[in-house]
Amino acid sequence: MPIDEKTVQATFERMKEKLAEFIPAAELKTKAEIVYEINRLKKERNAVILGHNYMEPALFHTVPDYVGDSLELSRKAAETDKEIIVFCGVRFMAETAKILNPNKTVLLPAKKAGCSLAESITASDVRKLKKRYPGVPVVSYVNTYADVKAESDYCCTSGNAVKLVQSLNSDRIIFLPDEYLARNVAKESGKKIVFPVKSRLGLRYPDPNLEYEMIGWNGRCEVHEQFTVADIENVRKKFPDVYILAHPECSPEVTAAADFSGSTSAMIRAVQQVKANRYLLLTECSMGDNIAAENKDKEMLRLCSIRCPHMQEITLEDTLASLQKTQYIIKVPEKIRRKALRAVERMIAVA
Ligand code: 13P
Ligand code: SF4
Repeated sequence: MPIDEKTVQATFERMKEKLAEFIPAAELKTKAEIVYEINRLKKERNAVILGHNYMEPALFHTVPDYVGDSLELSRKAAETDKEIIVFCGVRFMAETAKILNPNKTVLLPAKKAGCSLAESITASDVRKLKKRYPGVPVVSYVNTYADVKAESDYCCTSGNAVKLVQSLNSDRIIFLPDEYLARNVAKESGKKIVFPVKSRLGLRYPDPNLEYEMIGWNGRCEVHEQFTVADIENVRKKFPDVYILAHPECSPEVTAAADFSGSTSAMIRAVQQVKANRYLLLTECSMGDNIAAENKDKEMLRLCSIRCPHMQEITLEDTLASLQKTQYIIKVPEKIRRKALRAVERMIAVA
């Protein structure tokens, strides 16, 4: 298929305007050609591309039909009438799209694209918890695999976790698997939380007869657990006017020391609305580049360059290959999918 040079040039100009400070012009030229081919194939194959806020800038600002946080993208996946969903995010997100769309082809542009949280818990772990605390509802973070969702009563994201927990008419809940998100949710909803403790003999579960309202798990996000209160104090010393935003996967000490905590999209909106001229994001650093490209009137401070190694696996080149070769197809066994659907639909219903 001959390439339409005019369209490629126009794409290149648009990309240069937004991304010149992050990507050299020569590289942008090549990327503009890839964008052209992705957009052509997307139409030809009747596909929709969903892009998480953590995607690299050259991808985030070009090919997705929708960008957003986990909750927004799950909703877009539920609504689409396209035959193919290309999920530019990590595996648990693509799996969630498949749970909602059993008859569509869902593609993840990288073979693995895991997540340290999703890998921190198994379906068997959840079954053991349910046996230990019979009748206690299980809320799982969306950052879990389909078999864990299938054992759960509800799913939530960082965008609606507090609301969902507050809406449950239960004295006690099990909240999995992110320790820090659980602690942040417990703090915000005024609930007492306890955790299983690792010992030489295996896991020691909290005594069901003691007083507490939430039972958590020991998963951590390998990116957000790296931010510390000392980081915040050091930046505030140098820049007292800085506005600091932290994702709720950071420790409760970090979110308390920050000015704002919310989902990735909530952080984007907060940067757009805040009056301060300087801001600092405590989250995956590609999202920082994506925000900086759209908020050139404000100064973004850089603390470090922590990228999520799993999100990083998805590139423009992989997205093109995904559409060309129909790879990598997400499969969820029907029995698991049907069980997981209930928890995912409940998640989508909570604003
Ligand atoms: P959001 O739902 O806030 O986009 O977060 C997803 C995630 O994996 C953050 O690390
Ligand atoms: Fe998982 Fe953390 Fe990466 Fe988000 S940033 S996908 S929680 S490892």
